[in-house]
Amino acid sequence: MNGSMEQTSQVQVINEIIEKRRSTFTSQFEPGKVIPDEIIYQLLFNANQAPNHKLTEPWRFTVFSGNGLQKLADQQAAIYKAHAGTKFKQGRYDSLLITPMLCSHVIAIGMKRHADIPEMEEIAAVACAVQNIYLTATAYGIGGYWSTGGITFYEQAKSLFNLEADDKLMGFFNLGYARVPSAVRTPGAVEEKIMWVRE
Ligand SMILES: Cc1cc2nc3c(=O)[nH]c(=O)nc-3n(C[C@H](O)[C@H](O)[C@H](O)COP(=O)(O)O)c2cc1C
Repeated sequence: MNGSMEQTSQVQVINEIIEKRRSTFTSQFEPGKVIPDEIIYQLLFNANQAPNHKLTEPWRFTVFSGNGLQKLADQQAAIYKAHAGTKFKQGRYDSLLITPMLCSHVIAIGMKRHADIPEMEEIAAVACAVQNIYLTATAYGIGGYWSTGGITFYEQAKSLFNLEADDKLMGFFNLGYARVPSAVRTPGAVEEKIMWVRE
C-alpha cells in the first residue's frame, strides 16, 4: 500500500469508528460475559495517549473486575447511604449495589490536579482520555458508557480511588459486551454549530 492509499484507509477507519461510537448502557450488557484484561489494558493505553496541557497526564484509573465489582458495589452503596442525607432514595441505593454486577469491568475515572494549570484544562484532558476509551471500545466491538451518576460528586468517595481533596472523581466507565445494540442516534446538524470566518 502506498502512502496516500494507506492514509485514505486510515481516514475511512477513523471516520467510521467515530460515527459508529455510541453509549451502550448496563441494561444492554450480556450478563457474565467478561472482556479480557488485555483489551481493558489497551483501552487505558490509548487513554494515556490523550492530549494534555503541560504534559500533566492528569487521568487516573481504578479498574474493578471479578470480586472487585462486588467491592465497588458495597463501597459505593455504603458511601451513598452514609452521606445522601435527606436526598436518600432506596432505588438509587439498590442500583448502586446492582449496576457494577451487570458489568464486565468498571473503570473509575479520576483527575489528579496539578496546581500550575487551570482546572478546566485538566478536566478537558481527562475527557479526551475518556473519548479514547470510547473509540477504542467501539473498535473492539465492546459496549460501554461514561456515567457521572452514583457517588461521582461525593467528596467522601475520592479516597476509595486514591484521589485527594483537590483531585476530582469524574465518574465511571461501565463496560460489557452488548446483548442489545444501541439505538441509532444522529446528532443535530454540525452546520448549525460552526461559524466560518474566511475574510
Ligand atoms: C461527561 C458525561 C457524563 C455522562 N453521564 C451519564 C450518566 O450519568 N448516565 C447516563 O446514562 N449516561 C451518561 N453519559 C452518556 C450520555 O448519556 C450519552 O453520551 C448520550 O446519551 C449520547 O449518546 P451516545 O454516547 O450514544 O452518542 C454521560 C456522558 C458524558 C460525556
